[in-house]
Amino acid sequence: MVSVDDEVGGGVAQVWGMVAAGAREVMGNVWRRQRMRRQRRGAVRGQGEVVVGGEEGSAPSGDLEGQCWVVTGGNAGVGRAVAGAAGRRGATVVVACRSVARGREAAEALAGEGPAGRGRYEVAPLDLTALESVRAFPGVLDAMGVGRVDVLVNNAGVMAVPVRTVTGDGHEAQFQVNYLGHFLLSLGMARRHARGHQGVLRVVDVASVTAEGARLCLGDVSYRRRKYLPLEAYAQSKLCAILHAREFHRRWAHRVGAR
Ligand SMILES: NC(=O)c1ccc[n+]([C@@H]2O[C@H](COP(=O)([O-])OP(=O)(O)OC[C@H]3O[C@@H](n4cnc5c(N)ncnc54)[C@H](OP(=O)(O)O)[C@@H]3O)[C@@H](O)[C@H]2O)c1
Repeated sequence: MVSVDDEVGGGVAQVWGMVAAGAREVMGNVWRRQRMRRQRRGAVRGQGEVVVGGEEGSAPSGDLEGQCWVVTGGNAGVGRAVAGAAGRRGATVVVACRSVARGREAAEALAGEGPAGRGRYEVAPLDLTALESVRAFPGVLDAMGVGRVDVLVNNAGVMAVPVRTVTGDGHEAQFQVNYLGHFLLSLGMARRHARGHQGVLRVVDVASVTAEGARLCLGDVSYRRRKYLPLEAYAQSKLCAILHAREFHRRWAHRVGAR
């Protein structure tokens, strides 16, 4: 049995492992793909996303009836749009968010936007600044009677927090919310999937073009010793999210059919 501390330690250690596994090559590929995508679409503003092993940048398409999607930060912004798109195509969507009240508000609004009878929206508490909350999440889904999850969208994020903020777990806030919390969540969801569910678990990490110019400082990911720069810290967390997508695929795809 691995403890949460081990898991989180694993998350930080994962950053090292990923680099050792060839981050330069990975980023070369990511940058090449991003450049091609931008050229294809003429896009300037990045809604970066990595769909591991899937079609990049695509909105959910086709009939998703019978599928269950979990979208972190599904109550607002990009997450709300993804939740709505999946629900309108028939999926049951679990809006995972730190404010259950805001989640319910969004869920009710989303349910009213789609065709009658299509999509069902549930709300589950998840606060990525508290790893205890992240660790509890798979159990919360069990208690809600949620069965197999087909897609986990690691979307919730904070950007350029103006003043260095440290979570109760001791990590710089953007590093924890954008990367470390989602790392632990993916791990918990993959274990849940492997324990009792058949089929494929797909994990989507929402990144950002800022990762393109990111600097990953392995000795000080939480800005304890270097000067805190809000955007630099954001970019670093998004680079970690991209690397997480790659490494998660390498470690878990064969065990949970993850893509
Ligand atoms: N918008 C862009 O142009 C853009 C570009 C590139 C990448 N992205 C990425 O896309 C994702 C969504 O961005 P957005 O623009 O939609 O941002 P947003 O409108 O600010 O929404 C962020 C979502 O994350 C949630 N969240 C924040 N902290 C959280 C925490 N501690 N625990 C759980 N949920 C938390 C928020 O919940 P509350 O409602 O409770 O605050 C909200 O639902 C982010 O990962 C962002 O980095 C966005």
